[in-house]
Amino acid sequence: MCGIVGYNGKKKAVDILLDGLSKLEYRGYDSAGIAIKDKNIEIFKAKGKLINLQDKIKDKNLKGTIGIGHTRWATHGEPSENNAHPHVSNNGNVTLVHNGIIENYQELIQKLEKHNYKFYSDTDTEVLTNIIDYYYNKYKIGPIDAINRTMVRVRGSYAIAVMFKDYPDEIWVARKDSPMIIGQNDDGTYVASDVPAILKYTKNVYYIDNLEAACLKKDKVIFYDLNGDVIKKEMQEIKWDVSAAEKEGYEHFMIKEIYEQPEVIKKTINSYIQDNTIDISRSNLTQEEIKDIKEIYIIACGSAYHVGVCAQYILEDLTKIPVRVEIASEFRYRKPLLNKKGLAIIISQSGETADSLAALREAKNAGIKTLGIINVVGSSIAREADHVLYTLAGPEIAVATTKAFSTQLIITYILAIEMAHVKRKINKKKYLELIKEIQTIPDKIKNILEDDTNNIQKLSSKFSYVHDAFYIGRNLDYAISLEGSLKLKEVSYIHSEAYAAGELKHGTISLIEPNTLVIGVITQDEIYEKTISNLVEVKSRGAYIITVNPNKIDVNKVADFTINIPETNKYFYPSLTVIPLQLLSYYITVSKGLDVDKPRNLAKSVTVE
Ligand code: M6R
Repeated sequence: MCGIVGYNGKKKAVDILLDGLSKLEYRGYDSAGIAIKDKNIEIFKAKGKLINLQDKIKDKNLKGTIGIGHTRWATHGEPSENNAHPHVSNNGNVTLVHNGIIENYQELIQKLEKHNYKFYSDTDTEVLTNIIDYYYNKYKIGPIDAINRTMVRVRGSYAIAVMFKDYPDEIWVARKDSPMIIGQNDDGTYVASDVPAILKYTKNVYYIDNLEAACLKKDKVIFYDLNGDVIKKEMQEIKWDVSAAEKEGYEHFMIKEIYEQPEVIKKTINSYIQDNTIDISRSNLTQEEIKDIKEIYIIACGSAYHVGVCAQYILEDLTKIPVRVEIASEFRYRKPLLNKKGLAIIISQSGETADSLAALREAKNAGIKTLGIINVVGSSIAREADHVLYTLAGPEIAVATTKAFSTQLIITYILAIEMAHVKRKINKKKYLELIKEIQTIPDKIKNILEDDTNNIQKLSSKFSYVHDAFYIGRNLDYAISLEGSLKLKEVSYIHSEAYAAGELKHGTISLIEPNTLVIGVITQDEIYEKTISNLVEVKSRGAYIITVNPNKIDVNKVADFTINIPETNKYFYPSLTVIPLQLLSYYITVSKGLDVDKPRNLAKSVTVE
């Protein structure tokens, strides 16, 4: 999705804007642009990678200390220089960058055309720029009133950064349903759609709420509500390390983030478990509230949904509360019947995924309690959910999630154990046993990374040619197969599917041919023999079988290649099995020579429907 960065201060804006945009590349984009004010506001744009924009401006000697920049992920209008942001109003008074979508832009075009506005691009953003300009001129009002009138008039989602020709020392920003943070240090003020863009410059930020606006001056930020009244905001400190958003010698963010997993999982565990006791009181979810929960709805998208599928097995088994897991984009439009004593759990790394945010609002409107499992502090879901449990994954830059996924899993285990204990479904002994075992997960992952990476790397080069892969497993092994399969297809572009092992024979087995790659995940004691039988069925049709399993499970009669993982409690295997699956996807993609951190057509945080 698009990215915004803006700076107003003492330093040359061009360097800060380009650096910030480079930190937003991971979000996915197809063109980029900046506007810098020196004597006049000068605009530079280029289609394609940021390097094209850098080439365009390298000899320009841009000295301005105020400017806005943007990476565009095309929605309205093809990727082109003409459609790239910043956009400028007809009379040149308003220059704007925008993330999000203006839904009623056609209606606004008609309105503006009646007033002789002309359009040079195919974007909804140009319309937004001119609407601000229209109100600004019509009522002879200042930026805040023009922006507020625009916010009332437009429908959709937006984060905008605006420069007015008449207010050369200010950047104006506003947002609705699209992320934006504002930072400040002694050198100036900053705005960005995402923390990594400004993390290097400051950790002191303000969170701007929906339908609020702000004016960034060189030394202060003034916030306004929709009435145009000034509002006070507290500055907050971001806890992320600057180094977490840098590659630090790794070839790609994805592999760096895979290797960070033991550390961030440990951090996440330690923030909720001390002295063998779980403490989730920071979420404000009380034991009384837990006792009262009669149903659980887990709602999420993509990999976060797969965490939900794992959690469904674990939560239901441990707490004996019925659990349903739903894809957010389906949940939000299907008017589900929800128990008033239900708990909706929204899982999201970014906390900004449009469908997950909408699902959260649906659940709140239905009057049920909501709990977010979120990585980005201050994100929309984190702010709107009744309760929040934060994952401490730090900034995740690779589009394909790894460490956020793993920390989300951990939170669901902790929640399941705590709920089961509070509801007296497990006794103290079991509670302590599970807590003890959870704490071994970071080291077990470290062992997998140390012991298996080389073999997986060698194996992967053999599979760069494959067209199809199937991931199969039962129960929790099926849940993690869903994630393994998504991981492979999203980065390597190899078609892959995950199947509940027992379901193959109902159609999919007809796709198995000699050398089709089948990955079997086999960890669950009660049912592993069944999965092995299913693997035998595909092996006898010529499939090449890789298994991921603890040593105690004998896979000799099926596996062409075995990846051994350490033993753990049955509930926690997903945390271990996912590691080789992530490595497999990473190395297959690298051996195909693809851009593993920025797969085509994908965006890190999906803020549109
Ligand atoms: O930010 P979120 O966790 O809400 O994002 C949800 C999905 O878009 C995300 O997990 C996506 O599926 C990942 N790219 C998968 O690696």
